[in-house]
Order: sequence, then C-alpha cells, then structure tokens
Amino acid sequence: MENSATIHPDKQTQAQAVESRSLGRAERITAANGLTIVNCSAGQLMVQFITEQIIRVTAKSASDTHAWSGSGVVLFPENAVDQQVEEREDEFIIHSSALQAFIHKSDSSIAIYDDKGHLLARQEPVVWNVHKEAAVHFEKSSDSHFYALGEKTGFLDKAGERYEMWNSDVFSPHVPDIEALYQSIPFLIHLNEGTVYGLFLDNPGKTAFDMRSYPNHYRVSCETGSLDYYFIGGSSIKDVVSSYTGLTGRMQLPPVWSLGYQQSRYSYMNQEEVMTIARTFREKQIPCDVIYLDIHYMDEYRVFTFDPLRFPNPKQMIQELKELGIRIVPIVDPGVKKDPTYQVYRQGIEQGLFCEKLEGEVFIGKVWPGDSAFPDFTDQEAGTWWGDLHRYYTELGIAGIWNDMNEPSVFNDSKTMDLDVVHSNNGSPMTHKEAHNLYGMMMSKATYEGLERNLNGERPFVVTRAGYAGIQRYAAVWTGDNRSYWEHLALSIPMVLNLGLSGVAFAGPDIGGFTHHTSGELLARWTQAGSLFPFCRNHSMLDSIRQEPWAFGAEIEEICRTYIALRYRLMPYMYSLIYEASRSGLPVLRPLLLEFPDDPKLFNLCDQFLLGSHILAAPILRPSTDHRAVYLPEGTWYDYWTGERLEGGKHHLCHAPLSVMPLFIREGAIVPQAPLRQSLSEASSPELTIDMYCSGRADHQFDYYEDDGRTAQYKQGSYNLLNIQVNESPNQVSVQLNYRHKEFENGIQFIHLRMLYVPFVPVSVRIEDNPHSFDFNEQAGVLTVGFKTGFHSAVIQVIG
Ligand code: GLC
Repeated sequence: MENSATIHPDKQTQAQAVESRSLGRAERITAANGLTIVNCSAGQLMVQFITEQIIRVTAKSASDTHAWSGSGVVLFPENAVDQQVEEREDEFIIHSSALQAFIHKSDSSIAIYDDKGHLLARQEPVVWNVHKEAAVHFEKSSDSHFYALGEKTGFLDKAGERYEMWNSDVFSPHVPDIEALYQSIPFLIHLNEGTVYGLFLDNPGKTAFDMRSYPNHYRVSCETGSLDYYFIGGSSIKDVVSSYTGLTGRMQLPPVWSLGYQQSRYSYMNQEEVMTIARTFREKQIPCDVIYLDIHYMDEYRVFTFDPLRFPNPKQMIQELKELGIRIVPIVDPGVKKDPTYQVYRQGIEQGLFCEKLEGEVFIGKVWPGDSAFPDFTDQEAGTWWGDLHRYYTELGIAGIWNDMNEPSVFNDSKTMDLDVVHSNNGSPMTHKEAHNLYGMMMSKATYEGLERNLNGERPFVVTRAGYAGIQRYAAVWTGDNRSYWEHLALSIPMVLNLGLSGVAFAGPDIGGFTHHTSGELLARWTQAGSLFPFCRNHSMLDSIRQEPWAFGAEIEEICRTYIALRYRLMPYMYSLIYEASRSGLPVLRPLLLEFPDDPKLFNLCDQFLLGSHILAAPILRPSTDHRAVYLPEGTWYDYWTGERLEGGKHHLCHAPLSVMPLFIREGAIVPQAPLRQSLSEASSPELTIDMYCSGRADHQFDYYEDDGRTAQYKQGSYNLLNIQVNESPNQVSVQLNYRHKEFENGIQFIHLRMLYVPFVPVSVRIEDNPHSFDFNEQAGVLTVGFKTGFHSAVIQVIG
C-alpha cells in the first residue's frame, strides 16, 4: 500500500534525461533492393516500403552498433515494392504509388504525404538522451484522436493519455493511472479530420506513447534497441487495421467450442466439484462449453501434472465431461518448479532450455511453485520442447490451454525476470530488458504449435494473459485480474474495443469480475454485455463470493441463461465475423466509429458497441439503473426485443429493467442464426434461419461462413462461404445467394429466410429452379421463404 511518501518532493527528479543528440543533417542516400539508406551527419535512417501503404523507418545513432533486424514478428511480403528515390535541393523523396516520404536535409525530419499530396504526418528529428533512449515526436492537433495501443485502461480515444508498453502483472485495481498492463501492443491509430494512419513501433523492450505532455506533438520512445517504426497509410481505420494485421498476422480459426460460454474459478478444487458444476449447467439448461482448471489442479503447482488426491482420474473426468459437451482448459504458467526430482525441471536444466544470465547461471524466480526456472521461449529448441510437453494434456483429451503469469510475473521487487538475463533468440541474443514484451507471446506460440503437432488435425485453443503485437496468431486474450466493480464492467468495453483495433479480435474480460465480490445485479449486467464479447468467460477469485450464473437465485439465473442462449443462437453470425477477422483482421466487437467514421459523436463513444457492423448493444453499466440514453447513428434501427423502429442520428432514452440489455439491429442487417444448443460440440442443426432487416432502399450483403468448426480441414478448402446480397427498391426485394466457395459437405441443408419489416405486401415470390415454400405474416410484415441449399447460386425475387 502506498502512502504520501510516494509524492515526497525529493522524488521529483528530472523526468527525462536531456535529449541531446539527433541524426543531424541528411547527407547522402543509397538505394538498393527496395531499401533506402539515408546517411546523416550523426547516424542513419533506413527507409523501406513494405507495401504501397506501409513505410518502415529505422533510425540509428552513430554510436549504435547493435545489429537490429526487428523483433521477428513482422510478416514481410515476398515481393518488394517498387520505391522511387529522388533528390531535391532541400530534401530526399522516397515514394511508392500511394505514399511519399520527404526527408528534409537540414535535420533528417520526415513528412509523409499521400498520393494526392495531402500531408498525413510530420515526424520531427529522432533524438537520443544520454541513456541511449530514442524518441520521436509526431505532429498532432486539437482534432487528433488516438486508438488501439492494445490493452489499456481509460476510454476509447487515447488523446490526452500516456501509456507504457511493459508487460506487467497488475493485481492492484486497474485504474486510469496504470500505464502498462499484461499486453504490450505498440500500435497506434491517429485520426485527424478524416485523415488516418497507423504507427507500429516494433520494439519489445519498454516503449512509451505520450499523447499528453506536448500541445502540438505526441511522443513515441523506446528505452532500448533501435527506433523502428512502420507507418501505415489507408483510407479508413478499417483499412489501417487490415494492413496492420497483414503485417503482424491474423487469428487462425479457433475451435468453435472456444466461442461458447466458459466457466472458471480460482479454483474448482477437485474432480467432484468440476463434475458438479458441469452437471448443474446441463440440469439448469444453461449453455456452456468449457470449464477451466486453475492452479489447484496441479501437484504442488508443477505444470504438466495433476494432483493425485484432488484429481485422481483426470482422463475419466475429461471423458465424462466430453459426453456432456464440456471441454477442460487447464492453466499452464511458465514457471517450472525447481525440484531435481521433477522431470520437466531436470530436462530443462540438462538440455539448457531455461533462461540464463550471460555467465551461465539459470535465472530462478519465485512464483506459485516457489523457486522456479523459466523456459527461454525465444529459442526454437526450447519452444519445441515446451510445445511437445503438451502431449501430456492432449493424451488426456485436452485441446485448450490457458497461459497465465507469462509477462513473466515473478514475486520479487521488479515483478519480473532479471533484466540482465540473456535470451538466446535463436542466435541473436537479447537481454531481457530488450525482449521483455516478447516473452508471453513466445510462450503462447510454443503452446499453440505444440498442441497443433499433437492434436491430429484438431484445432488448438490457447488463451493468454501476456502478449505482444501479433499475439492474435496464437491466442485469444483475456484482460487479466479485473475486479467486480461496475467501473470495470464499463472499462472492459473500451479495453476490448481497442484490443480489436490492435489486431486482437478474440478477447474478453473476466465476466462478473475476478477479485472483490460481485452482486447478482452486476453479474446479470456483465453477462448481458459479455455474452456478445468474442471471448466469453466468467472467472472469479479464491475466497470471493461464488459467481456461477445460478449463484444469486432464480431471477439472475434466468437473465444469464437468456443472454448466454442469445449468444448460442447468434453463433452463425459470430462465427462468420470470426472468419472475417481471420481474413481481414477486422475486429468482431467494434466501436461505432469503425462503421460510422464521419460521425463526431462517436470519437470517444464506448459505453455501447457493435457486434460486427449491424448489431448494437448498449449495456447498463451502473447499479439500480433501468433507463439509459442510447445513441443510434444515422439510419433506421430496430429494438431487438420489441421490434420498435427507431430513427438514428440521435439519442433515445431506453427502458432497461434488469432483464433487458438494450440491443438494436440496423436496417439492412443480415443475421444468420441457429437453433439453441447447450454445447457447440453438439452436432449443429442442418437448418439455418437468416433474419433480413429490410430497408426498402439500400443494398446490403453478408458472408455466411461454415465449416466443421473442429479441424484444420478448412485450410484444405473444406468450408462454405455463402454470400447473401440484397437489393431493395420500394416494391421489390431481390436476394442473391451465391456460394463463393462450397466444398464442405456437412453444411446447412435448409434455409429459412425471414424478411422482416417488408415494406409492401408481396404478390409474387420466386426462386428460379429451386422448390420453396413461403409464408407472409401481414400483421408482422414478415415474409418467410424456405428452401434447400442444393444450389451454387440462386436469386429470390419478391415483388409487391
Ligand atoms: C492470476 C490470473 C488469475 C488466476 C490466478 C491463479 O492472478 O490472472 O486469472 O486465477 O492467477 O492462477
């Protein structure tokens, strides 16, 4: 606990050592193999177009002898971009077809323009202080808005904030002062009067983004390594996010069961308790796909073991759970108990796979098992070894792993590994100080790849606490130790939205809150919102009040059941969005701004969110509240529960008794839905209902995706992608259904297309060459057309 000594005046040292060195004049330029080197009087700039829209800029001071080639996370395209270089009296110009970088000779500052000559960014000269920490300032204005930066506290718009990137285990309440949490994703989106760009600082040491301290600039800095950034142009935030994820990778399709509702607690203490929880879900008919095993499942916290007394027969338990449609996901931390009789520790020591100091001493730190060693995941051999150890779990029938404490968290003063540990980094050694933020991601990579090798074609699932840019390739992210505070329910929305804008589409908080004690009301409200988050897990802390959906009596239980069931019904819609995320990198949970970029009311709106582009949720975020203002952007919206038609472009006061989370569907929405299942492992229905919210005017479309949800067969083409394209005019609706890809045989066999709010009375419904039935409920304005899917493309014409 801190007291006032924390703000003692003697502690007010100079915040930053004087930045006394810069690159000086840009003097000469050499260009070869798509790389331009600008030799400056006191260092070097390397400029490279990675794509037409992405420029990599690396700055090195004259004294920097480090061979820096990047953190290793960037996926470089195979083909070099044709970059043109030009010298003028005052500047060098390097350009692609989309961007132009002007490097000013006088001070090596850079200005970046788009192809129309519109200024996108102005970068002041790179500077270094006496500690060799590099910093760079970019111009901003009072209209600048900032997004992404991964998992941060605060609101959606990061203007006026400062954050650090240093993976940290923060158990204290997550509050706005906390500049660094578990994930470090040094990627920023800058939006200014319709102009947008992204900035990815590829540096896994400690870095900072300061949008607070300077009126006309924001500052990006790194304590170690080279200043190496990727400037990402694009015409919209969507474009920039898509390019950024092209650079750092996109999520792979997870097993569909990992999109179901997940139940956790620190800890379900033994086999009986786990089975009781599982059976209770089934008895109460609350859908559930996963139960987590927290640290008590292990034998004295030794990873890759089960406690023989608490869990005498894990294989049988896992089998019985599978029969109930429930998967087990056990926790695996990186700390390996120092115990010479423990196989994993012995192997790690004998094969030199743990993190060591330069002098050869293995780093030992205290975590749950007491003194522990930590695998060096930057080393391929250690990663493979670790991954293969997961055979222990896969042989028991486990396909999902929960990576925790992988910042890494250590119970010492620095809260992490000693900074002078030297990671092997496959032959390019880096100190822990330089590589800290990579550790957690490399653990999840090793885990994902190890599971993949051992699952005979089944898809692995990994969820992690720590990560770096690119973590989405290997794991879902949960946002760590939040608390059962209403404020943390509210905070979880911008946090997950910004994670989504940072490439991490599969994310969510501990629903109900981890530590402190939830209440029935808070659990109900959090489950309502959380049921639409991509990662949906209820987790709570040792000794906190129980928070399973039934813990607070029948009313709260029924609310939880309703919203979890809603998630399961919407799964075809959500899974299609997950597919989209895997292809384009766009988030599943979206800030309204992403879909309505021209509406200034949305720059910082984050007490509402969109699921995809058409479903808008406005959760209740305060106790004892049964009304709230909801801002509906331009267009027509429908209340999901009552069907009421609402005009957008303004606020509405919405009634939200405890059982209701305000939920709206945008006109033009196409929402595929499935019959309710208790588990996504159960066979899916051959029938799909597609709700189409008619608009009477606009054209709209949706890609419905399906595959077996379980294996990697989709990578061989075994999937279906059905494009649904709707064209409307005042007395006609035409729906074109077109399988863009159709190689998955067990897909849906029958579609019920429900056209809602049809603005006219249909006199003719036609589907060429396809037997069909239809029914029109005139009072409700709902036309239902039923037909089989034995087509490649079909057109439904409805004429009024
Ligand atoms: C950490 C995790 C938490 C977990 C606990 C015990 O605090 O963040 O989710 O329950 O460790 O493993």
